[in-house]
Amino acid sequence: FIAGGLVIVATALAYFALLGINPLPAQASTQAQAIDRLFNAHFFMIALLFSLITVFIGYSLFAFRSKPGMEDQPGANMKGNNTLEIIWTLIPLATVLVFSFFGARNLAETRMVDSQAMEVKVIARQWDWVFEYPAYGIKSNELYLPVNRQVLLKLTSLDVIHSFWVPEFRVKQDALPGENLVKELRITPIKEGRYTVMCAELCGGAHANMNRPVVVVSKQEFDAWVSSKVNAATADPVERGKRWAELSGCLSCHSVDGSKLVGPTWKGAYGHEVELADGSKVLADETYLYASIVDPASQLVKGYPNSMPANYADQLSDEQIRDIIEYIKSLK
Ligand code: CUA
Repeated sequence: FIAGGLVIVATALAYFALLGINPLPAQASTQAQAIDRLFNAHFFMIALLFSLITVFIGYSLFAFRSKPGMEDQPGANMKGNNTLEIIWTLIPLATVLVFSFFGARNLAETRMVDSQAMEVKVIARQWDWVFEYPAYGIKSNELYLPVNRQVLLKLTSLDVIHSFWVPEFRVKQDALPGENLVKELRITPIKEGRYTVMCAELCGGAHANMNRPVVVVSKQEFDAWVSSKVNAATADPVERGKRWAELSGCLSCHSVDGSKLVGPTWKGAYGHEVELADGSKVLADETYLYASIVDPASQLVKGYPNSMPANYADQLSDEQIRDIIEYIKSLK
């Protein structure tokens, strides 16, 4: 009875000590939430077992110690106990099976695929990280991520084995050398802030310094960062406009080679004659293009042909729209 009470007290103390100390770093991804849940369940189980074992060993040492006058008496002769053996086989077996089940479910949860995930290529080498955003055509030594959007990391290495690890995200993945050895890792950041990606695989002299910042920001800040990176990468407004057009989905309705899609082709769009509803004609200049993109509804009222979705341009900054117009102008 006393030993049982001690077990409960010791387990509770160990568990609440863990919760109080909370040795884990901040929880900054949905994957971290899932992993911590399982970690805490395991810890509770381990705290319980540890308490059971230490308390009963201590109790046995005291209760069954040799008392004066008993030195020469042999202990009881035990031949075995089938019931006990079955119990101490079945309970651990059931425990392991239950944890395997939750472990497998947890693993599936941390690998859940979001079709809207943003792809980032992670290139590791001795001793640095480079992050490439194929959708934006930019490279960076800082991993910028928009909050609450899954990122699909595609990891490769240029030399030896490295390992991508951000403790706050909990998940970890090796980056392997070799053309076709691309490893994937999915992370959904849920907390804005600055973190550090570190290399978790001994990879040579400066392994310990193979760290780079990971910056989780709001969608607006992320878009602004992308814009500044793209602007820095190319000074040519036509080139930038092409990129914005591809990114914002303009090209699913407008061709650039004269072929007919849902919307008018951009080839030769600038400077051509537009026929209004009353039959009169005007020249498609910059002002016309700008108004058609930004305010299609009012253009329609004025008699211009226009079936652009309203608010479509809201996803673009004014500068981006100007770049797109430069791109349209270049398509003669
Ligand atoms: Cu790269 Cu350690």
